Amino acid sequence: MSKQPPDVEAIVAEIARNRKYRASGVTESTIRDIVLSELARQPNAKAAVQSARRKLHEVMALYLGDPDYDAARAQLEAACATGDAATIRAACAAIMREHDSTRERLPLLDEFYPRIFAVTGTPQTVLDIACALNPLAIPWMGLPPGARFFAYDIHRQRVAFLNTFLALVGMGGAALEQDILVDYPQESGDVALLLKEIHRMEKRRRGIVLPLLDALNVRWIVLSSPTRSRTGRHTVIDAYREQVRGILAGRPWPVTEIEFASELVYCIAKAP
Ligand SMILES: C[S@@+](CC[C@H](N)C(=O)[O-])C[C@H]1O[C@@H](n2cnc3c(N)ncnc32)[C@H](O)[C@@H]1O
Repeated sequence: MSKQPPDVEAIVAEIARNRKYRASGVTESTIRDIVLSELARQPNAKAAVQSARRKLHEVMALYLGDPDYDAARAQLEAACATGDAATIRAACAAIMREHDSTRERLPLLDEFYPRIFAVTGTPQTVLDIACALNPLAIPWMGLPPGARFFAYDIHRQRVAFLNTFLALVGMGGAALEQDILVDYPQESGDVALLLKEIHRMEKRRRGIVLPLLDALNVRWIVLSSPTRSRTGRHTVIDAYREQVRGILAGRPWPVTEIEFASELVYCIAKAP
């Protein structure tokens, strides 16, 4: 008797129906890519589905936090209606506080982008890859008039909210619902930000980050890794530095490191 091959589309649909993903929305190509990869690695379909669920949980990382998006939208609309830069920044900071990655960066923001752009030059076009709420830091970036900002994420609700934000602050570009490990960004730019996510991407599939870096059509890639574990108890600086060096080992790109208290940044001159 021949064994039926697993119905990949049925598995994808079933995983997408999970209550937590119904609320946030998740790009189907992400689920499909993880399911196919786990079917190839695991001994049977049951083990593959279990493993795919665990991987998606880490990739979506909903445990890092989300604002109430309707309330956040109203807060931004009210702040932008005042036209006051300090009020707009305060609203952005309050929303960024709702996600671990941006909350940890708040105390650094005054110096974060000035120090990075002192190395890369101030970009005209930014690609913010696996962005979460980081586009709300645009008011701290000092981008020139006419600048464009492209933000990529697989969390549908976040992407919709970010498009509202970009329109409210009059920033060109767009937020795109796109798994950038399945469909590489097609936009070209001066700087691609890939902040605090490569350690998670390499857990999804080892070796997955370098082909993305190769595919990015930008002059500079700005990567970062956290300096401490999520609990804050352990330093991870050496392990993650080794990971970044390993990924970049076969490329001739010069790298400038910038160390902040909670984040180690690598400015990679791909084609400066
Ligand atoms: C830890 S957060 C990092 C956020 C941001 N880069 C920062 O440092 O503030 C990871 C974000 O990446 C998104 N993400 C994960 N894998 C992705 C992928 N393959 N393509 C696009 N977005 C992805 C998640 O949905 C989440 O919003």
